[in-house]
This record gives sequence, C-alpha cells and structure tokens, in this order.
Amino acid sequence: MPQPLVPTRRSILKAAVAAVGAGFIAPSFAADPLKIGLILPLTGPFASTGKQILAACRLYMQQNGDTIAGRKVDLIVKDDTGVAPETTKRIAQELVVQDKVDVLAGFGLTPLALAAAPIATQSKTPMIVMAAATSIITSKSPYIVRTGFTLPQVTWPIAEWAAKNKIGSVVTLVTDYAPGLDAEKTFVQRFTGAGGKVIESLRVPLRNADYAPFLQRAKDAKPDALFVFVPSGEGSAVMKQFSDRGLKEAGIRMIGTGDVVDDDLLESMGAVAVGVVTSFHYSAAHKSSENKAYVDAFMKANHFRPNFHSVGGYDGMHLIYEAVRKAGRDAGGDKLVETMKDMSWMSPRGPMSIDPATRDPIQTVYVRKVEMVDGKPWSIEFEKFENVKDPGV
Ligand code: PHB
Repeated sequence: MPQPLVPTRRSILKAAVAAVGAGFIAPSFAADPLKIGLILPLTGPFASTGKQILAACRLYMQQNGDTIAGRKVDLIVKDDTGVAPETTKRIAQELVVQDKVDVLAGFGLTPLALAAAPIATQSKTPMIVMAAATSIITSKSPYIVRTGFTLPQVTWPIAEWAAKNKIGSVVTLVTDYAPGLDAEKTFVQRFTGAGGKVIESLRVPLRNADYAPFLQRAKDAKPDALFVFVPSGEGSAVMKQFSDRGLKEAGIRMIGTGDVVDDDLLESMGAVAVGVVTSFHYSAAHKSSENKAYVDAFMKANHFRPNFHSVGGYDGMHLIYEAVRKAGRDAGGDKLVETMKDMSWMSPRGPMSIDPATRDPIQTVYVRKVEMVDGKPWSIEFEKFENVKDPGV
C-alpha cells in the first residue's frame, strides 16, 4: 500500500518512536514541565510586594535559563489581590488540584501564607514563603520553607543598637496584625532587657490606616525615639505624618525595621527619611559584587529599585532551582523540602542558609542609616550581626 502524502497521526507516532529508539531525540514524556505556582498580591494595597517579587523571579529565570535538570520551568502567576486569606487558599488549591504544580511560592502577607499552609500539607507540596514574615509561619506546615526573613530576626538588632546609642526611652508604633505584634514584642523585650524604657505601645489598623493621630500621640509622649514597623507599601504615609507633625523638630528620632524605609518607596520619600536608623537583612545599597550585579540587572530590566521582597523572590527561585538539581528531576515534595533544609548560598543580601530546624533563613542583619548619596536617599549599612536565626518570640 502506498504511503499517504499527508502523514497520519499513526505514522508520525511511529516515526517518533523510531527516532527515540535510535537515540536521535530525547523522549519528551520524561520531561514534564516543572510547575511553580506563584501567588502574589499584584493589585490592591500591597501590589508593590507582588510587583517586586515577580520582577525578581523573572530576572532569575532570565539569568539562569528556563530549564532545570532537563525540565522546562513553567511559572504560573496568580494575583490574590492581597487582602482575603480565603482567596489565597482557593488559588493554592486550584494550583495544586487543577494545574498540578510541583511547588507553591510567593505569599505577600502573613494571613495569606497561614491560609495556604494546610493546602501544602495535604498535598505534600513545597511552599516557598518569599515575603510573609511572622515567626510562626513555618511551624504551620512541614512543607513551608522561607526565603525572606522573620520579624523577630530583624527587630532585636535595632533594639540592642538603640539601647547602646543614647536612646533611653521609646514609643513603639506597629501595624496591628501578627508581624507587627512580633516586632513589638521583640523590641520591647530586648530594649527593656538592655535597660531602655518603653513609654507607650501604639497599634495601627492594617487597612485604611490614618497615622496622624498616632504620631501626634507619640509626639506628646516625648520619647527619645519612635520605633516603627509597618508592612512594605505603608512607609511613605508614616514618613509624611512624622514630618508634618514635627516629630523630627521636636528631637524625636525614628528607628525601626527596614520595612518603613522600603527601597521601593525610599526614593520618593526624599530628604524626610534622612537619619532614620533601621535594622534589616537587605538594602539595595548593600556593598558587594553580587548585589551590584543584582541591582544593575534589576534596574535595567524594570526601571525601579529592588527592595527586600525582591530578594525573597530571587532567592526563592534559587532555592527551587538548586533543590531540583540536587534532588533529581523526579524528586517529590518530601525529597525537595529535605534537600532545601541546610542549603546555603551567596545572595545579593549577603550569605544565607536555611535553618534545618525551622526552615527559616539564617542571615546577616545590618544596622543602616538613611543618607543622601548623589542626591538620592539610600539605607547605608554601618554595623552587622552575622548568622542571625529566627529567635521566635
Ligand atoms: C507580613 O504580612 O508578614 C509582612 C508583610 C510586609 C512586610 C513585613 C511583613 O514588610
């Protein structure tokens, strides 16, 4: 029988099988894509977090290729809008059940990460928390590994620095939800433990915060300094009220965790931020060749400065890539998480590793001061605490 001119499905299949058998082409069925379900707030009040992390994940893939161990990386990006935990949970469930993702990643705020934790546990899917920073998060599922930071980890260094640097009394101001309470508790414990006095602890609502009355109250209490934790995206509003209410003129210093002088906003804050001292794990001004290369590439691709959430995303991708390479392309969730524990590498932020006991990052925490460099404000690191683990609270 003569061969048809147009190849049939059967003839194509036969040819393909013959080609594979003859060693001409690799069998494509063994190379399922590696699916990463990236859930981020890309719209809504915390969209800057999503924008930063997504840009960093894409940069990582651009620099390191989109195949790992022969598997094509398929980044499935979902916007959870950042405000409703049940939305994040539903998206995580859909990604696991319908898209059959190998890894879940992202998680912009603590309540959203907490809502998705049971999905990771039930489906044995590694869940890389790139942003949310309350200490307890990793205890909510053995499949959670964190690449950002924890609030207690970055808070105690500023408490110790303040107590040693002529700050005798403080008013604390935090956002009233889990990471804010972690920051407040850690600061109060460490600062009073080192001999300082906390005059008052103020808590501001997470949504639609009006900082003016709180800053007026802080001013009236006449502390040496105001300690601030607000989630990224909120810093400008706090800084504006701090300036408008004349706290600086009244001789009150601002200290805090680095979230308040977030590199995403710092440039637009301008000179009002100068002098603010914070402790944190990342500054875009960190002096290292790795960070210079990172900031240059990030700015070239995006035309905005990378912030601390961006390195949580960049290092999260690194963790996934290296774990799949090391564990083998067919490794399941348990083996991947096991491989991620104890991994260490050089990040744009400095050296970091994953604590095998808690699956939290161990990293350097820097004390930094906002200074004008070439007409722009940057957080300049001047002291450091190495190998800091999450102390819990
Ligand atoms: C959090 O919700 O855990 C969170 C979000 C933004 C931050 C810090 C913590 O800057």
